[in-house]
Amino acid sequence: MCGILGYIGSKNATPYLLEGLKGLEYRGYDSAGLYVAGQGVIKRSGKVAKLEESIPSDFAGNAGIAHTRWATHGAPTELNAHPHCDQSKTIWLVHNGIIENYLEIREQLLGFGIACATETDSEVLAQLVGHHYAEGVPLEVAVGTALQEVRGAYGIAVASVREPDKLVAARFGSPLMLGIGDDGYYIASDASPLLAHTRNVTYLNDGEMAVLEKDSYEIMNLSRDVLDKKVEVLDWDIESAQKKGYEHFMLKEIMEGPEVIENTLRGRLDIENSTAKLGGLADVEERLKAIKRIIITGCGSAYYAGLVGELLIEEIAGIPVEVEIASELRYRRWTAVPEDTVLIAVSQSGETADTLEAIREAKKQGILTLGVVNAVGSSIARATDAGVYNHAGPEIGVASTKAFISQMTVFVLIALRLRELQNSTAYSNSTQEIIQELTRLPAYIRSILQNKDVVSDIAKRHADMRDALYIGRKFQFPIAYEGALKLKEISYIHAEAYGAGEMKHGPIALIDENFPTIALMPKDSLYEKTRSNIEEIRARGGKIIAVTSGDTQELSKITADIIMIPQTIECLQPILTTIPLQLFAYCVAHERGLPIDMPRNLAKSVTVE
Ligand code: AGP
Repeated sequence: MCGILGYIGSKNATPYLLEGLKGLEYRGYDSAGLYVAGQGVIKRSGKVAKLEESIPSDFAGNAGIAHTRWATHGAPTELNAHPHCDQSKTIWLVHNGIIENYLEIREQLLGFGIACATETDSEVLAQLVGHHYAEGVPLEVAVGTALQEVRGAYGIAVASVREPDKLVAARFGSPLMLGIGDDGYYIASDASPLLAHTRNVTYLNDGEMAVLEKDSYEIMNLSRDVLDKKVEVLDWDIESAQKKGYEHFMLKEIMEGPEVIENTLRGRLDIENSTAKLGGLADVEERLKAIKRIIITGCGSAYYAGLVGELLIEEIAGIPVEVEIASELRYRRWTAVPEDTVLIAVSQSGETADTLEAIREAKKQGILTLGVVNAVGSSIARATDAGVYNHAGPEIGVASTKAFISQMTVFVLIALRLRELQNSTAYSNSTQEIIQELTRLPAYIRSILQNKDVVSDIAKRHADMRDALYIGRKFQFPIAYEGALKLKEISYIHAEAYGAGEMKHGPIALIDENFPTIALMPKDSLYEKTRSNIEEIRARGGKIIAVTSGDTQELSKITADIIMIPQTIECLQPILTTIPLQLFAYCVAHERGLPIDMPRNLAKSVTVE
């Protein structure tokens, strides 16, 4: 998705804007540009490096805005790149989001003799601000008036040639935050570009606007009522957002698995009293005692984590759960949903548009909404009534890895808390046993990572595969889907997942020596059934990669490609089987020489529908 930056203060804005654009590259983009007060605008299609080459050494000023564009309206050309201006070239604006009524506004502007030069909805917004920016009207008034006429999502930063010592930022639906520095004020779509300059941040909520000058800032609503906003301190240092010497963010984030589980659990296990403590749910625990059903929602990996969460909550707390992808749930007939339902929305970025919309639909029905979110202060974190932060740290690689294992771990904690709040009958392992095994997860993951060369060797031997099939049962069923998604999104290989029990209902027709099967078969209650599946696959010439905690001696009669993982209780096993699949996808993509952290066509956060 698009990335937005701004700076105003005592320093030269250009270096922050350029470095900030690089910090936002992971979001996925196809053009970039910047405007600096007193210098003007430079924008280019393609990568930030190409833009940087075009900037003269004396291109300096104390205020500026910048943008990485992910094309939604109009091709990824230099003309369509941001910043956009009004026809007098007085207003300069960068925008993340979609202005849904931009065609109507473009027609209205034409009636005032204002013709747009590009195909973009963002230029329409710049022109509309310019239209309201009559002589003597302050920039924030023109921006506030214009924003009250648009429908859709926006995160914007606006500069004016007429008021070079002022920037205005505003958001509705697209994330935007401010960095409060000693040397000025920063605007950014997310924390990454800020970390080198300040950790003091404040988040804009929907309908809020910030007016920044060199030595002061104010945040207000669109009616310009000044708001008193809390300044939060980011606990991510720039080091943790860098690669730590790994070739890719994705590998770094896989290798961080043990610390991520430790951070997710930190302060949340009361071993003495055998319970889970979730401060983020404290305010709604009375309501949670009475809920009779749960809906979990999310997109992509977050949805698959929800499928694991469904089994965890049903097994541990005995509450019926259904899981629905957010892009479908938002269109459901919500009036049929009983009030004693709780919606749990899962999102690493906390900015996924479909997930946010599903939450809004649920809230309209008075349904309690919880978030399982990694990005502190994100839109979903603030849209939900309560929630649990992952504390997984910044996840930069487009393919979600550490956040995914954290999401499953959070669901274990939520299930334990619900078991206690509702005095549920223990359907599975005792709370003590679950807590004990939770504390062992970091060590289990370390042992898997220590054997990553086994995965790498297998990946090298399969790197030229055309297709792949992932199979699993019960807790391994969602992990089969997650494993297939990882391979798809970074190696571009067609991969699909099936419940292992489905093989005879069609998929086995696909199997030949060029269509390997990755079988998730920890030594659990369903191991023998999945073992039969791989016997049938082998009998048809299919190659098998088995991920197991069982007896390799016995399995080696079926396949040589065996990835061992530690044995733990069945409900925690999906957290372990995930790790080799993340490594496998990474190694295959690496073998194929692909841009692992920024795969083609993908963005880290899908903030538009
Ligand atoms: C996962 O590897 C993908 N990058 C994608 O499916 C992602 O999980 C999905 O877009 C949801 O993102 P979120 O967790 O930030 O809401």
